[in-house]
Amino acid sequence: MDFTLSEEQKMIQEAAREFAQNELLPGVIERDEKQKFPAEQVKRMGELGFLGMMVDPEYGGSGLDTVSYVLVMEELSKVDASSSVIVSVNNSLVCWGLETYGSEAQKTKYLKPLASGDVIGAFCLSEPEAGSDATSQKTTAVDKGDHYILNGTKNWITNGNSASVYIVIAQTDKEKGHKGINALIIEKDMPGFEIGPKENKLGIRGSDTHSLIFNDVKIPKENRIGEDGFGFKFAMKTLAGGRIGIAAQALGIAAGAYELSKKYAKERKAFGTEIANHQAIAFKLADMCTQIEAARLLVYKAARDKDIGANYDLSGAIAKLHASQTAMDTSIEAVQIHGGNGYVKDYHVERLMRDAKITQIYEGTSEIQKIVISRGILRN
Ligand code: CAA
Repeated sequence: MDFTLSEEQKMIQEAAREFAQNELLPGVIERDEKQKFPAEQVKRMGELGFLGMMVDPEYGGSGLDTVSYVLVMEELSKVDASSSVIVSVNNSLVCWGLETYGSEAQKTKYLKPLASGDVIGAFCLSEPEAGSDATSQKTTAVDKGDHYILNGTKNWITNGNSASVYIVIAQTDKEKGHKGINALIIEKDMPGFEIGPKENKLGIRGSDTHSLIFNDVKIPKENRIGEDGFGFKFAMKTLAGGRIGIAAQALGIAAGAYELSKKYAKERKAFGTEIANHQAIAFKLADMCTQIEAARLLVYKAARDKDIGANYDLSGAIAKLHASQTAMDTSIEAVQIHGGNGYVKDYHVERLMRDAKITQIYEGTSEIQKIVISRGILRN
């Protein structure tokens, strides 16, 4: 399998690297400390075409492939995973789902501004009692003929307050179980829609994560995505692609931690020599590099599967499972290599370690990935 990047892919990777160094790095520590949303940076990412990367230019997107998308995700995540999760949710969970399953009217009204970065979107599946067990939706969308009435609460929603467009998964017909679930497009200013409190998080603190409350929100039927009862499959199909984006985020966090550690190990001296000359440190770097190379190949493979129209449920889940473990292992070792300096904020690695953890939780925990993988391999 040939993983040589095309000239265009290399240029996109370089543009993302430069943007991350020049525009995400300054202020990243302060945004993390103050839980400050990177509003200016998001605007710039829209201008650079990072918010609708795979969307057809006809709908305001960049018309690129999934491999280009994971390259950008990796570069952004090396520096600022709070910004990259905004990119991931907007691209994978919002734009992709709308472009693939939305009506022409929905694409014109919602996808265009989302893909061009004029507004950002949120994907609302999780609930207080429906995280991993996603079919147990308590939020209801009661069918009233030409509209739905939405009631309930969603939890841990990325872009919760900063989004303008929300895709909300809700139960219309309880009797039908997951076949009675719908995906509805909600606008921020619809009456009865309230943004709940902001979460105070361990990592990705620059991204805004909120609960959302719906009290008798009236949603026109034309805002339903797909046929009646398609909502759960919509969520699963969308998340299968989302997992590739999060795998790329995890890869970026790991690679960022590794690059900082390698540089530090060649500069920092102990016992009369650079610490990289001590095998205890050199072997850590060797282990980090090996795990990261494997993660990168898995992420590229999953992205390529999506690009060539192959099934990517399994390869995406494998990539996410491995890359998120790599992010965790690598960032912990990065703190260890940095010693006392690793434990303070100025050296960035403690933030990468805190940011790494969420990649094992959101868009399906590592345990959920193992369900998807085991079902995938045992089916045949
Ligand atoms: N594509 C298409 N259909 C799929 C599918 C897929 N990838 N996966 C499942 N389905 C379908 C099944 O075929 C089934 O339909 P049929 O009955 O017609 O065959 C239906 O969905 C139900 O599937 P299961 O019986 O497998 O359902 P389950 O209850 O056993 O759960 C699960 C499956 C994989 C565990 C699923 O619940 C799951 O993925 N849970 C995790 C949810 C998750 O990832 N949440 C993340 C929240 S979003 C987020 O984090 C975003 C953010 O802000 C960053």
